[in-house]
Amino acid sequence: MVKTMHVYEGKAKKMIPLDERKFIMEFKDDATAFNGEKKAQFKGKGWLNAQISTMLFKMLEEKGIKTHFIGVAGDNKLIVERLKMYPLEVVVRNVVAGSLKKRLPLTEGTELPEPIVELYYKEDALGDPMINYYHAKVLGVGEDEIKEMEHIALRVNEILREYFKEKGIILVDFKLEFGQNEKGEIVLADEISPDTCRFWDAKTKESLDKDVFRFDKGDLINAYEELYRRLVGEA
Ligand SMILES: Nc1ncnc2c1ncn2[C@@H]1O[C@H](COP(=O)(O)OP(=O)(O)OP(=O)(O)O)[C@@H](O)[C@H]1O
Ligand SMILES: [Mg+2]
Repeated sequence: MVKTMHVYEGKAKKMIPLDERKFIMEFKDDATAFNGEKKAQFKGKGWLNAQISTMLFKMLEEKGIKTHFIGVAGDNKLIVERLKMYPLEVVVRNVVAGSLKKRLPLTEGTELPEPIVELYYKEDALGDPMINYYHAKVLGVGEDEIKEMEHIALRVNEILREYFKEKGIILVDFKLEFGQNEKGEIVLADEISPDTCRFWDAKTKESLDKDVFRFDKGDLINAYEELYRRLVGEA
């Protein structure tokens, strides 16, 4: 497959080809919500998400999860393996929040008896709709590939849930993206940050994630810095 050397600019990141096999993934200070309807810039947001993603990818690699993370290329830049991305978002939920309230008769904050995995088609024009195996097959993604992504996502959930619990943080839910490398292996890609996860302070249930911006619940940088401080172990 011929790989272009064009820069891809998304809503939150820039993907800059380094060579045939690597990207510089640059985190921007942009924040968007509700499919891009709400937009703003927060100085330092890119740096925070790059640091947090780096820590979490390194920790997951140590636990045997294959990720696209290769290294750091500056303040808000990571070096990642270029992958053939699945047009999917795999969401794992531990606690009722966000759009789950529209699907099940459960109140926000209810802990789920077991994690729920949901599949979304990553297509802004369609509003990233929720899909099932049959839809995915039409998109060219086989059942075995989805089963493997779900399996990896549930393993990532076990690891991250425990990791954050020790830091007094509840991992409410999160979104993962996967790609395929040249060997045909399924690899965890994109980012893991307060943009793609919901984190609540275990005592106060205060949001330490993008909900602060989505629902005007305070200062996004304060929330992301608080999360970062907890991860690096600063009081
Ligand atoms: N290792 C990788 N190889 C190839 N593409 C990747 C890799 N990791 C992430 N991507 C893709 O790069 C883009 C990152 O940019 P950004 O997150 O800003 O995305 P986006 O496409 O605007 O969509 P959204 O904001 O809805 O995620 C995404 O399309 C993501 O799927
Ligand atoms: Mg994205």
